Amino acid sequence: MVGLPARGKTHMARRVARYLRWLGVGTRVFNVGNYRRQHLGSRQPARFFDPDNVEGNEARARVAMRALDDMLAWFGSGGEVGIYDATNTTRERRRSLASRMRAHGLDVVFVESVCEDESVIESNIRQTKLHMPDYAGVAASDAVSDFRARIAHYERAYEPVEEDEGAFVRVIDVGRKVVAHRIQGYLPSRLVYFLMNLHVVPRSIWLTRHGQSSFNVEDRVGGDPSLSPAGREFAASLGEHVRDSGIAPRVWISTLARTAQTAAPLGLPFEEWRALDEIDSGDCDGMTYGEIRRDMPAEHAARRENKLTYRYPRGESYLDVIRRLEPVIFELERERRPVLVIAHQAVLRSLYAYLMDRAPSEVPYLPIPLHTIIKLTPITYECDEERVALSPALA
Ligand code: F6P
Repeated sequence: MVGLPARGKTHMARRVARYLRWLGVGTRVFNVGNYRRQHLGSRQPARFFDPDNVEGNEARARVAMRALDDMLAWFGSGGEVGIYDATNTTRERRRSLASRMRAHGLDVVFVESVCEDESVIESNIRQTKLHMPDYAGVAASDAVSDFRARIAHYERAYEPVEEDEGAFVRVIDVGRKVVAHRIQGYLPSRLVYFLMNLHVVPRSIWLTRHGQSSFNVEDRVGGDPSLSPAGREFAASLGEHVRDSGIAPRVWISTLARTAQTAAPLGLPFEEWRALDEIDSGDCDGMTYGEIRRDMPAEHAARRENKLTYRYPRGESYLDVIRRLEPVIFELERERRPVLVIAHQAVLRSLYAYLMDRAPSEVPYLPIPLHTIIKLTPITYECDEERVALSPALA
């Protein structure tokens, strides 16, 4: 990462890490600010960051190298994408970091965040920086002015990334403009595309399964059944709940009848996504779990053995579902309005794992009960979660 303080670097770093981990790429963020706080204490005044402060510069360079050592050791033990999250605002610092990384056989891409929009900088300072241990117990106005003085020191020494430094992507004003230079290969291209869709407007994402279907009643997988009477009652409660909230979200459903029937009482337009269809249970489609165990014991055992990678004969695995949801994730990131996703158990487990940064191995077991709306609201770097059970409750 490259950029002045309060330009959203950590936000980007953590979002990219979450996305890549969700895709199954071993990714970790190394935040040099945390190393500084850990090794040098969190109460450094703004003058510590003055480029003319020789002692301060040396101390900062030492912790920066410590973080790099840890990152290189992590790569040595199988890490795939390391995100080195620091200001890295001088050419000299970037040169020394990148040369050590390249000597270890790593490909380096600089991600520079440039932001001149004062309102974004101000809100970033207030939402994230004031809550850092650096300012615990300090009055907000004193903390803001100290942080602004810190930024001013960095500004004096700042040298934007130049073309001769290698591959980079420069994100200007949170995605208003994105410049990509010498970006090649699958992961760097995904990175650029992801960064193009990122924004910082906080809005909620609501997830719910469709109302109970006739297949749910019989414990059958897949199919395209209609809602049961209890499922229709849930659809009515959901409509009421959303109307009472005073929010008119965008509504996304799958192409299966049970999600459209659940969305109907909302009285809102909805968009159908094939990517939101339930996991394809292939040859087992329409069977009960008991029938699969009885008639296809080898399949049942294989699924129990590894539910994440198990693929139904002529159907899908959870990993397949995660991969096909990628366009939904991009659209979710891009969308600035609240979104209500009405979908299915396996699909919502996968989306939830992305939003809550849960490991792929946990995905097939995440609890996503029927008749429950899961409200996720971004707060600083994470999501706040609220679950509301709507009637009728299912036994
Ligand atoms: O049982 C409802 C359902 O949506 C099925 O259609 C689907 O196969 C299943 O849930 C996914 O959950 P699991 O992976 O735990 O079987």
